[in-house]
Formats: sequence, C-alpha cells, structure tokens
Amino acid sequence: MTMKPSTLLTTLLLAAAIGPPLQAQQAGDPRQGLSLARHVCYECHAIQPQQLISPNPRAPTFPQLAATPGMTAAALTVALTTPHVGMPMFRLSSDQREDIIAYILSLRGSGTTPGR
Ligand code: HEC
Repeated sequence: MTMKPSTLLTTLLLAAAIGPPLQAQQAGDPRQGLSLARHVCYECHAIQPQQLISPNPRAPTFPQLAATPGMTAAALTVALTTPHVGMPMFRLSSDQREDIIAYILSLRGSGTTPGR
C-alpha cells in the first residue's frame, strides 16, 4: 500500500502544525535558546517565567509571547526575520533562531497564562 504524495504532504504539514509533544523532537534546543536569549534579547524582553515585566515595557515578555494564541514556531520565525518598531534586526543563524523559538515555546503553560 502506498500513500499518495499529496496525502503524505498533508500528513507532514499537519504534524508540523500540531507540533511534536516532546521537546526532544523539536528542531531547536530550548536550553541553547535560553542562553542565547540571555545575551541578545534580555536587555529588552523578560525571558524567564519569574520575570513579570520586560526591561523595555513595550517588549512583550517571553511567557506572554508563548501564551499568545497563534504564536507558533512559524509566526515566531516571521517575527524574528521581519523588522519591528523598537527592535533591532538580529543576525541569527537559523539554528540560533530555532533554539530561541524552541525556548519561547517551551514556556507555554509556565503558569503566567490566566486560568491555568
Ligand atoms: C532593543 C530592544 C529589543 C531587543 C534586544 C529584542 N527585542 Fe523583541 N521586541 C522589542 C519591542 C519593543 C517589541 C514590540 C514591538 C512591537 O510592538 O511591534 C518586540 C517584539 C518582539 C516579538 C513580538 C513580535 C510580534 O510580531 O508580536 C518577538 C517574538 C520578539 N520581540 C522576540 C525577540 C527575541 C527572540 C529577541 C532576541 C533575539 C528580541 N526580541 C530582542 C524590543 C527588543
């Protein structure tokens, strides 16, 4: 039995959209992402769950970003590769970007979401 290529593609897209339940399967490494974020994002963004306010109040905290509906890896990739008011453009390698994105998404459900 063979899968039609289109079926396979749909399955892959679905799998990518839903996301792997285990972090070990993610492309990026959240721990690397955290240490990178400590260097490049920290001066403006609160990057850890226990920080409630960003150093730059206009910058959303990472837990807030993680809790934003629709803030998927794809959306974060766009956010990090397009210019933002008040935010410098970073020259991150795609590996670095994936690590940071994996880190941000790992904050999902870290307790700052109302009602959790
Ligand atoms: C110099 C300050 C500064 C630094 C450094 C900075 N940011 Fe930002 N960031 C901002 C501000 C200000 C905003 C809000 C922009 C807006 O309201 O459009 C923002 C917004 C964002 C957003 C949300 C974009 C959206 O579409 O809603 C993401 C994601 C983000 N930053 C990620 C990062 C990451 C990851 C880093 C480190 C690699 C970083 N930022 C470093 C200032 C900064």
